[in-house]
Amino acid sequence: MHDADKHFYGNGLPYLKVGPLKGSLIVIEGTDGVGRSTQIEALTRWLEVQGYGVVNTGWTRSPLLSETINEAKAGHELNVTTFSLLYVADFADRLENQIIPALRAGFIVLADRYMYTAFARNAVMGADAQWTRKLFGFAVVPDLVLYLRIDVRRLIPRVLESKGMDYWESGMHLKLGGDIFDSFRRYQARILREYDAIADEVGFVTVDACRSVDAIQQDLRSHIARYLAGERPARRRATAGVRRQSAATLRTAARAKMR
Ligand SMILES: Nc1ncnc2c1ncn2[C@@H]1O[C@H](COP(=O)(O)OP(=O)(O)OP(=O)(O)O)[C@@H](O)[C@H]1O
Ligand SMILES: [Mg+2]
Repeated sequence: MHDADKHFYGNGLPYLKVGPLKGSLIVIEGTDGVGRSTQIEALTRWLEVQGYGVVNTGWTRSPLLSETINEAKAGHELNVTTFSLLYVADFADRLENQIIPALRAGFIVLADRYMYTAFARNAVMGADAQWTRKLFGFAVVPDLVLYLRIDVRRLIPRVLESKGMDYWESGMHLKLGGDIFDSFRRYQARILREYDAIADEVGFVTVDACRSVDAIQQDLRSHIARYLAGERPARRRATAGVRRQSAATLRTAARAKMR
């Protein structure tokens, strides 16, 4: 396990010092239905067999907020501000009560999504990129972010064969298309563009998720094994400043300048 210094993404929490934490924070990012849960389950078993203690955490899973978020989403009346603040509260609760304590105790924390999910979704919903990043200034910067990358064409059958298209994950709240299929295609294309821009901004390790479960798992394991052996992926120093502007930000700027 590494005695690596952790740091906050932005201003941090005034009452909480992170500093050296024995554990490792590994994030699996990727869009809705890409296969994060499938991969995390297999990674957890693989790490545990090697003797590592693993703690799983995931987006919307805080005991404090998960029910509230589901109820709020069922009403279909959230706007970008209320949506963001609910998710950031879920994240804050898990960070303080699950993630940091587990890192302090030397666990490997496998996080199913992290603040980058909010960066992508908020951008597509029209939030200011800087505002979103400042909201997450208290986040601990992960040690490794593995990004499961897929294209919309290959995502669609994967989602249709499993849980089907959900209202929010299809971007129905943004009224992008005539029906849920059309909306899903357009919304997910925008989300994926944002993810790609963020991957570049932050320096994710990108894994091609268009392949079989096993092929993806092998890649993820080899990245994690290299990380645990002390190799570090090339990473830009992530701070709350927006280094590269996301597609949505550029689109807003282009519209403002349109004559
Ligand atoms: N590489 C793959 N190829 C084909 N199907 C896959 C692959 N990975 C996962 N699946 C299937 O796709 C579906 C979604 O997988 P999974 O639940 O792991 O995704 P997820 O990213 O966790 O989804 P969610 O965003 O809903 O949490 C499941 O039915 C799973 O069996
Ligand atoms: Mg899942």
